[in-house]
Parts: sequence; structure tokens; C-alpha cells
Amino acid sequence: MRERIMTLQLRKACIIGYPVKHSRSPLLHGHWLHEYGLDGAYERAEVAPEDLASFMAGFAGKGYVGGNVTVPHKESIMACLDAVTETAQAMGAVNTLWFEGGRLCGDNTDVVGFLANLDEGAPGWDARTRTVVVLGAGGAAKAVVYGLLQRGMERVAVVNRSFERADALRERFGSRVLAAPWEALPALLGETKLLVNTTSLGMSGQPPLAIDLEPLPSGAVVNDIVYVPLETPLLTAARARGLLAVDGLGMLLHQAVPGFERWFGVRPQVSAALRAHIVADI
Ligand code: ATR
Repeated sequence: MRERIMTLQLRKACIIGYPVKHSRSPLLHGHWLHEYGLDGAYERAEVAPEDLASFMAGFAGKGYVGGNVTVPHKESIMACLDAVTETAQAMGAVNTLWFEGGRLCGDNTDVVGFLANLDEGAPGWDARTRTVVVLGAGGAAKAVVYGLLQRGMERVAVVNRSFERADALRERFGSRVLAAPWEALPALLGETKLLVNTTSLGMSGQPPLAIDLEPLPSGAVVNDIVYVPLETPLLTAARARGLLAVDGLGMLLHQAVPGFERWFGVRPQVSAALRAHIVADI
């Protein structure tokens, strides 16, 4: 009898960034690989900007079935891809890669990650308000604003230290976005039931985000997308006012779901055990 030898190829994905040592994605995907008993791997790939094109040219050859993309490559990686989703196109940024019919594709799952976290932490939030105030106008704000518009918000006021960046979001996403200076914040807060912080203020090592939450109406939701620390001064202040506070960890966890499913064929759960596993590392 002829012996048949099956060679199982290990399915590998990676996080591409520069630097990548602080990324929690390997911990997160490693947890799921273990939980579902899958024979896969998730690695760190530290790639300098000048090496990105050659790294991506050899991506499939290195055995990768896909990966995530982080700073500083989220925009520049687009030139290396065969196709991107409508969301990634609208963002001008990609955070998730996979192969489809031999073509390297890119998506931006920060949008679904943000929305899933908010849905989980504040169910029905989008029935409570038609307007939102977003603090910050950087890369993360782009995904947040796009997600809020997709969910039908009639006005998304973007308040940022440098007004030009807020105004660039208005130009990108249209007239439902209002670019506003910091001084306009008290009045804007009085007219919304959702405040989202996308600035780096409140992150460990950064100054706290010192704003007065008093003008927010009762029943308002405050979401900080910062998750180190988990309990930011903004969230503490929101709880002290009796408002619903939603931390940012779920955005990280939920944005990872579509990639894992594409690479390893299992749609993973964002469970309490996963959350505890990541919290232990924060
Ligand atoms: P990310 O991709 O995480 O959004 P980013 O693009 O560097 O990061 O954006 C950081 C955001 O935090 C910006 O909105 C930034 O405001 P500016 O556009 O004016 O730089 C905001 N931010 C950072 N430090 C700040 C500070 N000390 N005061 C106010 N806003 C700050």
C-alpha cells in the first residue's frame, strides 16, 4: 500500500508596522488560535517604510495568508494591493489584508470595530441621538466619523485642536460633518447624546483630556477610544456625572474579528475571557 503523506501548511498572518513591538494584535489572535484549536500563527513583521514595497512583493511567498497593518503603513500599503473595499477607499487607509482568488485585498475594519464596541457598550445609542461630537481629527477620527455617518447620524461635529484637520474631514465626508473650534464645545455638548474622544489625550503618558461634561444632557453616552489605561479620566468624569461610559478596548477586539475569520475560517467571539486576557497585559 502506498503511503500518502499529507503536508499541512501552517496558515500564517502578521501585523505589519514600524515599530510593532507594542502591538497587542499577536496576543489577541494568539488567544483565538488557541481557543479554537487552530494550527496557525500570527507574527510581528517590523517593516521600515522604505522596505514596505519589497516586503509586500514577497508577502505570499513568505507563506502569509493575510495580516494587519498599523502605523505608519495604513495609507502607503494601498499602493501594494490589488483591490480594496469601499470602506477602505473612503478612509484612504487599510488595516486588514487577505487573499481572494490570488488577489491581495485590503479593508479598514476600524469602522466596524468602533461601531460594534459602541453597540455592545451602549445598546440603542443610535436611537437616542441624531448628532454626535467627535474630539480629534486624526486617523482614528476618520474611521469614527465614517462609521457614525453610515449609521445615519445627521450631524457629526468634529472638534480638534488644529481646525484645518477637522475641516479636512468635512471636505472628505461632506456636509453632515461640522468642523468646529474647541471654543464651540460647550454649546455642541448641550445638543448631543454621544461624545467620542479620538484624541490621544488621556492615554498613559499624555495629559488628561480636561473638558467640562456638565453641558451634556442626562442619558448621554461618552466613548473614549483610548484603552491604555482602560479607565481614562474622561470616562471617570462621565461616570461621576451619571452618564454611560464606554471604554475603547472593544474597538481593538472587534476590529480584529473580520481578519481572523478570513485567514483562519472561524468567526471568533469577543468574549469576556478574551477581554480579560488583553486587560491583564495593559
Ligand atoms: P490617531 O491616528 O491615533 O488618530 P493622530 O492622527 O496623531 O493619531 O491624531 C491625534 C489626535 O489627537 C489629533 O486630533 C490631535 O490634534 P491635532 O490634529 O491638533 O494635532 C489630537 N491631540 C494630540 N495631542 C493633543 C493635545 N495635547 N491637545 C489637543 N489635541 C491633541
